[in-house]
Amino acid sequence: MTDSILIVDFGSQVTQLIARRVRESGVYCEIVPFNKADEMLDHFNPKGIILSGGPASVTGIDAPRAPDRVFTSGVPVLGICYGEQTMCEQLGGKVEGSEDEREFGRAVISVIEDCALFEGMLTTGEQEPVWMSHGDRVVALPKGFKVVAVSSNAPFAAIADESRHFYGVQFHPEVAHTPRGKLMLRNFTHRISGCKGDWTMAAFKDVEIARIRKQVGKERVICGLSGGVDSSVVAVLLHEAIGDQLQCVFVDTGMMRAGEAEQVVNLFRHHYNIPLIHNDASDLFLGKLDGVSDPEKKRKIIGATFIDVFEAEAKNIGGAAFLAQGTLYPDVIESVSFTGGPSVTIKSHHNVGGLPERMNMKLVEPLRELFKDEVRVLGRELGLPEDFVGRHPFPGPGLAIRIPGEITREKLDILRKADVVYLDEIRKAGLYDTIWQAFAVLLPVRTVGVMGDGRTYDYVCALRAVTSTDGMTADYYPFTHDFLGRVSTRIINEVKGINRVVYDITAKPPGTIEWE
Ligand code: XMP
Repeated sequence: MTDSILIVDFGSQVTQLIARRVRESGVYCEIVPFNKADEMLDHFNPKGIILSGGPASVTGIDAPRAPDRVFTSGVPVLGICYGEQTMCEQLGGKVEGSEDEREFGRAVISVIEDCALFEGMLTTGEQEPVWMSHGDRVVALPKGFKVVAVSSNAPFAAIADESRHFYGVQFHPEVAHTPRGKLMLRNFTHRISGCKGDWTMAAFKDVEIARIRKQVGKERVICGLSGGVDSSVVAVLLHEAIGDQLQCVFVDTGMMRAGEAEQVVNLFRHHYNIPLIHNDASDLFLGKLDGVSDPEKKRKIIGATFIDVFEAEAKNIGGAAFLAQGTLYPDVIESVSFTGGPSVTIKSHHNVGGLPERMNMKLVEPLRELFKDEVRVLGRELGLPEDFVGRHPFPGPGLAIRIPGEITREKLDILRKADVVYLDEIRKAGLYDTIWQAFAVLLPVRTVGVMGDGRTYDYVCALRAVTSTDGMTADYYPFTHDFLGRVSTRIINEVKGINRVVYDITAKPPGTIEWE
């Protein structure tokens, strides 16, 4: 069994970054909400535990706590921000709210005593830039702890009980603004917890194939393909694991991009020789969405309709016990509040939150623990063609969430054409691989224009392009004005129905990548 680290989540927006840093250093880890950690430790045996930050105050009556087992199981513990504070409070120290001396943003810590957390990078007397974000602060340490670093507003910026291997930092080593935070986390996972750092995607693939075989047994599995990277990787992985027990279905929702169906059919039927049912369900989907404009309703309807279609297909092939989905780790984490965890739900990703209770099939979700870029590495490991692996993400609900308001066939056609022009220009400019995701959005607004000698009254098209590493945070892509002008001219000239183009310059947060 590979070494692993458990991350106990107290609801920080950057908990996933801790997981990314840990995995980047070759150590497998999982995140668990604080209220499920005890249960998790029944079957998960980590070599170290990290307590995340979180929005609560340790001094509140209902403040979330780490289960006692975290501190009694004998493994090293690292508390980050809220995690440090709750560790102190739970082990007999004291934390206070500090209204006047809150610390947000860049800060500098000074090391006052050598510590394993800083080994190989910082010794006593040296300073280091870090990122702070806290209101509460530790005022008295539990027995056995000592201060190892201070900052101007945090006299307990880093603390350690080296005999029990408990460490706490008030700052966030997982964010890019703490430039050498990754090294500190690596010291915790490798030096302090003793992880070897030998976790690779090839190893993950073998473990996952064995796990799928065990889960599925001799039963049949239906796998929905969407044209995106995730579902393609799931299908190829499952094919390697269970061969003919797998039946792939490409459901054409009527809300796919131009040419999507042909590309998927080609790849699976012809390149891989994996049998594929091509189900044109566009009438069904569009009929159910008729007149619906609320984003969450759209997502729920689409999720439920997918299940209807999969269940019908399962019946056609004489029954299937499982449905395979390309659910990713960020979907699982973002949906945690559905099961009572600490973070807030922004959107119900249909492949997690929107599944109807009544579904008759059990789920196989082999990518549940992976981030997007890890899925790409796995895709390459499985021999998927580079142009498929490198594709921009495409959401399960498809173009439905790129047409705010009601969806009609006419709007879908207009949007598909604009999207083709936009992506064509991005490819020609050599920017496709630099950009995480780029797409056109059709706004439910008509504006007045003038073309030739005539007045037009047509839709507005918004263009979106973002850079990101995992879709959790994103920046808009800074196209040149020349480029934007060229795309705008081409869309207005070539796509009937659009007479105005705008560029979305919102980052995530505060925006999301998709418009709905
Ligand atoms: P947001 O819009 O939440 O999107 O910033 C983050 C990433 O997730 C994709 N996305 C989805 N993928 N089913 C999916 O498979 C969904 O329901 C869904 N909603 C958003 C989005 O395209 C972006 O890459």
